[in-house]
Amino acid sequence: MSIILKNFIECDDKLVYEIICWRNHNNIRLNSLNRNIITIEEHREFIASLEHDKSRLYFVVENNNVNIGVISFTNINKESAYIGYYKNPFLNINGIGQILINTAKKYAKECLVLKELFMVSYVDNIISQHCITKQGFEMININNNIIKYRLRLT
Ligand SMILES: CC(C)(COP(=O)(O)OP(=O)(O)OC[C@H]1O[C@@H](n2cnc3c(N)ncnc32)[C@H](O)[C@@H]1OP(=O)(O)O)[C@@H](O)C(=O)NCCC(=O)NCCS
Repeated sequence: MSIILKNFIECDDKLVYEIICWRNHNNIRLNSLNRNIITIEEHREFIASLEHDKSRLYFVVENNNVNIGVISFTNINKESAYIGYYKNPFLNINGIGQILINTAKKYAKECLVLKELFMVSYVDNIISQHCITKQGFEMININNNIIKYRLRLT
């Protein structure tokens, strides 16, 4: 496994376009907190908004020269952050969810030096719940059909 993280703010136009195609794919969009279709202009504005914002980080994850998905860190502070993730919906490979969460955990521990991580998932997103709990996260509450999970890193 050879993982490379590409920060959204450094991605070229081709990759920016590829990501918005993933993000608007029904399987990704309908499992996201914002379920709207996102225009390429909105996507570019979103990426520009990340440039001076230390509380949010978004990366495309490349594994063995293939762009396999996206991981994000939001609400970043000295202690904790929320992880988000989705896979490249055009890849017919299993196991990507586990690689994405594992990569995010490693980055949070080694680069952001955080103490705990949170994740959220819709109650009907069984595949994601499976990935999240398999990576050691524990459910802490359920509100409005959204499950919140926590993982202590220390
Ligand atoms: C969530 C997502 C990244 C998972 O990717 P993936 O490559 O399918 O994940 P993995 O193959 O690593 O793991 C899926 C696990 O769910 C299991 N699974 C698959 N279908 C299942 C089902 N219907 N019921 C229960 N478990 C299921 C698989 O067996 C696998 O577990 P295993 O490793 O123990 O065998 C991908 O489905 C995705 O991008 N979904 C849309 C976006 C999304 O939901 N993001 C998360 C928001 S919280």
